[in-house]
Order: sequence, then structure tokens, then C-alpha cells
Amino acid sequence: MQRTKISVLLRTEPTGTEVLVKGWVKAFRNNQFIALNDGSTANNIQIVVSENTDPELIKRIKFGAAIGVQGTLLESQGKGQRVEIAASNITIYGDVNLEEYPLQPKKQSLEFLREHAHLRFRTNTFAAVFRVRHALAFAIHQFFNERGFFYIHTPIITASDAEGAGEMFRVTTLDPKNPPLDEQGNVDYKQDFFGKTTNLTVSGQLEGELAATALGDIYTFGPTFRAENSNTTRHLAEFWMIEPEVAFADLNDNMNLAEDMLRYVITYALEHCADDLKILEERLLEEEKSKPQDQRSEMSLTEKLRFVTENNFERLTYTEAIDILKNSNPNKKGKFQYPIEGWGVDLQSEHERYLVEKHFKKPVILTNYPAAIKAFYMRLDEGAEPGKETVSAMDILFPGIGEIVGGSQREERYDVLLQKMQAMHIPEAELSWYLDTRRFGSCPHAGFGLGFERLILFVTGMTNIRDVIAFPRYPGSAEF
Ligand code: 4AD
Ligand code: MG
Repeated sequence: MQRTKISVLLRTEPTGTEVLVKGWVKAFRNNQFIALNDGSTANNIQIVVSENTDPELIKRIKFGAAIGVQGTLLESQGKGQRVEIAASNITIYGDVNLEEYPLQPKKQSLEFLREHAHLRFRTNTFAAVFRVRHALAFAIHQFFNERGFFYIHTPIITASDAEGAGEMFRVTTLDPKNPPLDEQGNVDYKQDFFGKTTNLTVSGQLEGELAATALGDIYTFGPTFRAENSNTTRHLAEFWMIEPEVAFADLNDNMNLAEDMLRYVITYALEHCADDLKILEERLLEEEKSKPQDQRSEMSLTEKLRFVTENNFERLTYTEAIDILKNSNPNKKGKFQYPIEGWGVDLQSEHERYLVEKHFKKPVILTNYPAAIKAFYMRLDEGAEPGKETVSAMDILFPGIGEIVGGSQREERYDVLLQKMQAMHIPEAELSWYLDTRRFGSCPHAGFGLGFERLILFVTGMTNIRDVIAFPRYPGSAEF
């Protein structure tokens, strides 16, 4: 007999049809009622075990066991579910020794589960997170496909540092104990696998720009790697990034695209993940109870999501933001760890969160940052005072998270770009292939990067980025 998914059965009319389900036991009450889950939905199906079932088999129906049930789909007599299965035959696929099973029927802390990441999928919270993660990935592809963007696969191993921040993981096949040396006594990477130094990519943008200046509208969606030693709830060493790049677009088009995309995918989650969002909303409510009253969120998870889909983001320049921050209460009262004294400083997460959560109380897009604190490829704004040069950058800041998107209009003028690279000590020879786009048929273009896990953090209401990726990599941890 063909197995049916529980998600399908829960929508089926209970007309006494014979069905087969397979899944894991979530609960077993009174030696009679099994709550069975197969991962296809947040909801369990109720199995009614027949009285003449072998007592030896009943003993093996335990929390976490994998079983198959054949039976009749009936209207449920009990409360809380529409349908149930009257079991005629039960097969045990995998027993559980509850004394050894790290997951107990009671609640486990998120920290404990992080150490058992291979089992996290079995918990209601994480199963919900990963179903939402899937839905968001799907919605992103659907959004771009509907708008005629092409999905480009950019390399994972590269010789360039797209962000120029030097936070790269080296890729090499040389023997670390006995590497070949050149005449000066340095490691001779000419003898390495690729004949030069290579690393894991920090961004697919530079390659994406090549594709956009021929195909028009493209996006990448792949893993990126950063060896920054940031032990925070918002940083991973391996994370996924979505990077659209659009020919003939300026900063304004770029902001509109990012805002439309975020609204589209959050609406998709609200429409398609209602059961999972309910579980996550209850989890968040529970977590908030442990916080002091004044630190609790005024909105529930779904209210927050709806708020973002229904309101325009606040757009302002970096210079305007600095003015607000300089005159803000926390700055005047010395509450910021990094006080805002003047123009030119990089914003810290505390500043971003003040703007979003306290001042505007909605998502914010900051634009036109000082050139000195942004990447080399961003377009230099015209008409700036000397010493106050800005670039056509934009960062989107979200409540509870801070920066979720970073992007810009790109410097399409060959001479300006070359000068900028020289000033920032970016070797021209290594990026000649990139510079070629500016030498042959250069055009204005813009793009951005969305941190996929930061988006999932926002949508699921989880608090630590390590809890929205199946196998998190962070300083000191690459288990599983
Ligand atoms: O602002 P970033 O560094 O921008 C870029 O990499 C550009 N090349 C993007 C582009 O214009 N095509 O990173 C983009 C986003 C950030 O806004 C953040 O959401 C996320 O990537 N991000 C991280 N997410 C998790 N862990 C980290 N260590 C992250 N670093 C950046
Ligand atoms: Mg950034």
C-alpha cells in the first residue's frame, strides 16, 4: 500500500478509506492514543490503537519511535482533531531507548539542542523553523522568477576578496607541515592546486556583476563564508546570501527592489506557514515572559510580520541618521557603548537598533554612507564636500536584528573605480576581469545582498542565528 503524508490526510474527508502513514511518535496516552508526526506538517495525526494489539508491541510504542500504521481514516470522536486513524496494523521501524535518548518528551533548552543539532529536527520548534526556511527560499526564487531574473551560480572557491575585508578562509592542498618555499622563504602558492592563493567566497557579487552586464537582471543564492571572529547572535562563519544585480538600475531602483522582495517573501510565509508560525509565535511569547516587562515586544510575531508587509520602510541618509543619533537621549546620557561624536564613524548595532526600534519603530533604509567605511565598488556620489565623500550605498535595518540587507549602486566609471582601488590597495591585476566590465560597454547598475539567516531570524522570531541553520558554523564549532 502507498504511504500518505499526514499533511494530506489532515485535509482529507474521513470517509472510512484504508490508509498507511509512517512517522515518529510524539506522544502515547493511556496505551491507546498515539500522536504521530511525519514532518510534513506541524500537526500530528491521532492513531487509535485497537484493544487486541499485542502487548509486547505496545511496550515499544515510545516517544521518538519510528512506526508505520495501517488503518481506517475516520471522523474523530475526540476533541482537538477532525480525523483520526483506527489502526489495524502497526509496524515498528526504529525503537527508542528513552533512558539514552537525549531528547525527552519534556522541553529542552535551545542551547542544549544546539549541542545535539542532528536531533533538533525532531523538535516542534526546529521542524517549524526549517519548514519556514524552505518556504522563504522557495518564495525568493519565485519572486525573482516572476520578475524575469536569472539565477546564476557563482563560484565557492575564488581568488578575490569581494568585500576587501580580508575575512577569508584559505583553500589549499599544500602540506601545512612542509609547504614549498620560494626564494625569499615564503610559502610558494604557485605550487598550490590552483597555482595561486584561493579562498572560500565572501560574496558572489563581483561575478554577479559580470552576468548582469549581459543578462540584465540576475541573482545568486548560495553559501558564503566569513572568518570574522564575531561570537554574536547575528553572525555565522558560513551563511547563505541572496544577491540580485540589475543593469541600468540606480540606488532608488535598488531600494524599491529590496523592499518589494522583503514584503513579497514575508507575505508568502504568512500565507503558507500559518501552522508553523503559530508554534513559533507561542515559543516567542513564552521566551518574552522571562524578560522584564519593559523589554517585552509590544507586538506578537505575526503582528510584527504583518506590520512590515503593510508599512513603507523609512528612508534617510547616513548624515541624517547621525544627526538623530547625536541628539538622541541615549547618546546624551552616555548610554551608547560607542558614543556618536561626529560624522564619519561606522554605525554599531546599538545605533541601528535605536533608529529602528526606538526612533522610527519600523524598518529603516540608510543611504549614502561615507565612502571611507564602505567597500571599493560602491558608486561615489557627485558633489560632495572634500573630506565628506559619500557613496550610493544602502543598508536595510530590521527590528531585533539590525542590518539585514547591504547593497549599493556600483561604480561604473572606469577611472573612478581604478582610482578608488588604488587608494584602497586593492590589486588591480587580480581584478582585471572585473575591471573589464567597465572598459567594454559599462553601464549603471546596482544590487544588494540579503543575509538569508537574518531574514529567517526575523520571520521565525528566533533569537540566535545559530538556531535557524541546520548545522551552524561559528568560531570554535564545526560539529556534524
Ligand atoms: O553587507 P554585506 O557584507 O554585503 C555584501 O557582501 C555585498 N557584496 C552584497 C551585495 O551588494 N551584493 O553582506 C550582506 C548581508 C548583510 O546585510 C547581512 O544580512 C548578511 O549578508 N551577513 C551575514 N549574515 C550572517 N553572518 C555573517 N557573518 C554575515 N555577514 C553578513
Ligand atoms: Mg554590510
